Amino acid sequence: MKGKDSGEKVIWDQMRSSSGTPLHGPGSQSRATPKLLIWLILFVSLTYIVYTLKLVSHSRAACSDGDDIFSTPHHLTTKTTSLLTDDNVTQDTSTALVDRTAQILRLKSEPELEQTDVKHIVFGIAASAKLWAQRKNYIKLWYKPESMRGIVWLDGAVTNQTRDGLPPIKISGDTSGFGYTNKQGHRSAIRISRIVSETLRLGLKDVRWFVMGDDDTVFITDNLVRVLRKYDHTQYYYIGSLSESHLQNIFFSYGMAYGGGGFAISYPLAKALSKMQDRCIQRYPGLYGSDDRMQACMAELGVPLTKELGFHQYDVYGNLFGLLAAHPVAPLVTMHHLDVVEPIFPNTTRVQALQRLMVPAKLDSAGIMQQSICYDKSKSWTISVSWGFAVQIFRGVFSPREMEMPSRTFLNWYKRADYTAYAFNTRPVSRNPCQKPFVFYLSKVRFNSTMNTTFSEYVQHRVPHPLCKWKMADPARFEKVEVYKKPDPQLWNRSPRRNCCRVRDAKKKGTMVIDVGLCKEGEISEI
Ligand SMILES: *[C@@H]1O[C@H](CO)[C@@H](O)[C@H](O)[C@H]1NC(C)=O
Ligand SMILES: *[C@@H]1O[C@H](CO)[C@@H](O)[C@H](O)[C@H]1NC(C)=O
Ligand SMILES: *[C@@H]1O[C@H](CO)[C@@H](O)[C@H](O)[C@H]1NC(C)=O
Ligand SMILES: *[C@@H]1O[C@H](CO)[C@@H](O)[C@H](O)[C@H]1NC(C)=O
Ligand SMILES: *[C@@H]1O[C@H](CO)[C@@H](O)[C@H](O)[C@H]1NC(C)=O
Repeated sequence: MKGKDSGEKVIWDQMRSSSGTPLHGPGSQSRATPKLLIWLILFVSLTYIVYTLKLVSHSRAACSDGDDIFSTPHHLTTKTTSLLTDDNVTQDTSTALVDRTAQILRLKSEPELEQTDVKHIVFGIAASAKLWAQRKNYIKLWYKPESMRGIVWLDGAVTNQTRDGLPPIKISGDTSGFGYTNKQGHRSAIRISRIVSETLRLGLKDVRWFVMGDDDTVFITDNLVRVLRKYDHTQYYYIGSLSESHLQNIFFSYGMAYGGGGFAISYPLAKALSKMQDRCIQRYPGLYGSDDRMQACMAELGVPLTKELGFHQYDVYGNLFGLLAAHPVAPLVTMHHLDVVEPIFPNTTRVQALQRLMVPAKLDSAGIMQQSICYDKSKSWTISVSWGFAVQIFRGVFSPREMEMPSRTFLNWYKRADYTAYAFNTRPVSRNPCQKPFVFYLSKVRFNSTMNTTFSEYVQHRVPHPLCKWKMADPARFEKVEVYKKPDPQLWNRSPRRNCCRVRDAKKKGTMVIDVGLCKEGEISEI
């Protein structure tokens, strides 16, 4: 019994020393050589620090792949211990010390502590030579060559190589060897599906996310960064959103990121994908597009779609107004199919309309398109602000749960006005002549730095209104609406919540003045 006890004690002591406490080991060995030991430890630590610093600075300069940093301390530990005597105690303590120093150094040199920013993103833009001359104008709206990285992947050379405000152009690799048997689609889907892998193979440094989009996808990049910051880029992530069309989602998948809406793939996932994608694509020759091929490979990798509501495929026709005026409480990240729908502002070209939207998007990117709902009590009106885009005034009282449903100003992708065809709730455009909204579109916006407030002005879109017999004040007399709102860059760092709006007692004739901002304590949307 006694022997066993003492044996246990030795084990305990050894465990304690190997777990990091540089105590003297048991027995007389350590007492015999304390000085030598200290010198040894010092020597080892110094050598280690010098080596580590060298390696860390080297790997910082030359490599984007975090693996190296993590593996260095391990290599070094084995190297240094093999230099030592076969005295087990010495070995244990010195290893422990080395491990500790490694930990401290690792913490200090941890490049992961830096927040994800736009510089960590590489855009892969799917484009075609045929439509390039026209579509490049959408890219110019949002792409900033000074601060962003991206590649436009084309299927062939374009004559006009002028690159002002555009990403560099590359021609996709040959895909004629891949099978494509879908009758409806086009085999360019294979080329587009491989953009992530091809972009990865360019070997750009310090990349955390690959973000795919079409040439007619417009990004609000500040919000893209806000969304990606929430996720650990060292893990496998496939982030995007669905189609608006329930039928599309059934035909393709409710687990697929629709390519035009844009999607993000974390670096390690892109790496894993690139290793298997060509084999994977060969297994699905019958699929239609590039994004379902991508999803098929994601399914093989076992990575599900992480849905973010700000990516918009916009598989609709007609007028986006209803969708934009009731944007979900999530940052607006992308818009797509802008060639298909009407310009988002009336009486402008598509590109002009988006240029106008980019002005408020710059002043308060977090708040762009965010809805707030309030009431003018004295007149019994409902007011809905879609900040940076439009204001609507309705006669009568609509509850917030109605107002936050998009009104069906748009048509289904399958060109039918069928409300069962959407993957979310919508409300019909009201048939009651009194309930037709008065719509005011953004006309100008500026930032007042002394007040730290944005001022945006919305002018009434004059359209004939049917005769209304209600004895109620007529919103038609307002020429414009002025909205005051503080920029709120922290909006999405809090739990999601709609902003509140308040109608001010305005003195100016023909102008309604509204404040938009954080809801105050106890403030809700009620009349
Ligand atoms: C050193 O450890 C090994 C096993 O880890 C053991 O076999 C050996 O007897 C130990 N040597 C001394 C001097 O304790
Ligand atoms: C080439 O494109 C630029 C803008 O990207 C345009 O200004 C220029 O007129 C174009 N040149 C030709 C020959 O089409
Ligand atoms: C449309 O725009 C043109 C010029 O931009 C302007 O002259 C015209 O008055 C506008 N029409 C309407 C209905 O606003
Ligand atoms: C900013 O707001 C203050 C107070 O309302 C006003 O006096 C000033 O003229 C405004 N500045 C600009 C540039 O609009
Ligand atoms: C302006 O207001 C926003 C939101 O209230 C705040 O985050 C920001 O720090 C303010 N800026 C200045 C210069 O006061």
